[in-house]
Amino acid sequence: MHIHKYEKWWLTFGIGSLVLFLVIVGFSAFHYGSHPPSAKVYVDPERVDEIAPFNNPGVHKVEGKDWDYEVVFVASAFYYNPPEIEVPLGSKVKFIATTKDVVHGFQAAGTNINMILEPGYVSEYVTTVDKAGEYLILCNEYCGIGHSSMMSMLKVVE
Ligand code: CUA
Repeated sequence: MHIHKYEKWWLTFGIGSLVLFLVIVGFSAFHYGSHPPSAKVYVDPERVDEIAPFNNPGVHKVEGKDWDYEVVFVASAFYYNPPEIEVPLGSKVKFIATTKDVVHGFQAAGTNINMILEPGYVSEYVTTVDKAGEYLILCNEYCGIGHSSMMSMLKVVE
């Protein structure tokens, strides 16, 4: 079979970029341990209010863990519980969230906190809050009529 010279170049380029991207993704995943926010833990969406830690939403100081605070959020149409949180500047925070009904987003604008909340699953994200200020937490997954009014506030204070 005859393959034109340009066709060979193009094939080489295509396969080469595929290999290069796989190497980059593999390197960042295995060497740096970067991965999307986990949603590995199952929780019964009908009983969220009774199950720890979601029976006690809010900011909790923790000891002996890799992070200083755990922030527990419960999302439902169309609000977040709690509607506002405050954490000290420089602390390492683990966000733990789930939803009681449909898929919601959880994004703190201006930070790298961005999770998708799926009914039945627990989403977690650990980050260090290193810039003081107020960050609007909003829903970035269309969830219904009240989607645009679904928000909370993250306050990082000194
Ligand atoms: Cu919740 Cu959009």
